Amino acid sequence: MFQLAPSILSADFSRLGEDVAKIEKGGADLIHVDVMDGHFVPNISFGAAVMKSLNGKTSLPYDVHLMIENPDNYLEDFVTDNTEYITVHVEACRHIHRTIQHIKSTGVKAAVALNPGTPLSSIQWILGDVDMVLLMSVNPGFGGQKFISSTVEKAVELDEIRREKELDFRMEIDGGIKLDNVKQVTDAGIEIVVAGSSVFGAEDVIGRVEEFKSLYR
Ligand code: DX5
Ligand code: ZN
Repeated sequence: MFQLAPSILSADFSRLGEDVAKIEKGGADLIHVDVMDGHFVPNISFGAAVMKSLNGKTSLPYDVHLMIENPDNYLEDFVTDNTEYITVHVEACRHIHRTIQHIKSTGVKAAVALNPGTPLSSIQWILGDVDMVLLMSVNPGFGGQKFISSTVEKAVELDEIRREKELDFRMEIDGGIKLDNVKQVTDAGIEIVVAGSSVFGAEDVIGRVEEFKSLYR
């Protein structure tokens, strides 16, 4: 059983509330919130105000993915009653251990993300501190990119480390996920699957979320 986290990066921003209502109706588990600053990644998306416009309109938890430099300066902005996870990139944090503790101090779950080219060894000494590891299966910045298949091997290795060390963080994957590669990544140990264009690009968004969810029931 995996959790589905549709990314609102690919939603219709002029009808964000309606799009979120659709994924909720279809059975999504989380709302993946992609925040981009134009520095860490070559694109700008939206900030906390857009996320907070959903407060009170959905009961789905927020899965906040910060693709920004200096995330410590903005963490508190993303803490709401709906916020379940805040994820920062190891590549964007000079003091990742400190930043993880900072996230936890706000009362939400702390997660770390790795770009496709970043080795697992970069997070070796914080694996016991995080609630989740996000493996990027595309280079962050845009929706609709092609899945980088080496991420599957990375997930298998991370799952092995998790078992060996008896740790209990969740594993999430993000980028290029479609109906036809979900099984491959969940078999590799992934428990939370992000999907942007393959959910919101569908003609029938509710039906597409149901299709995703039916894959593992
Ligand atoms: C990429 C974002 C992803 C993106 C996924 O930088 O972090 O969450 O929205 O989009 P798809 O599923 O279209 O690859
Ligand atoms: Zn994301």
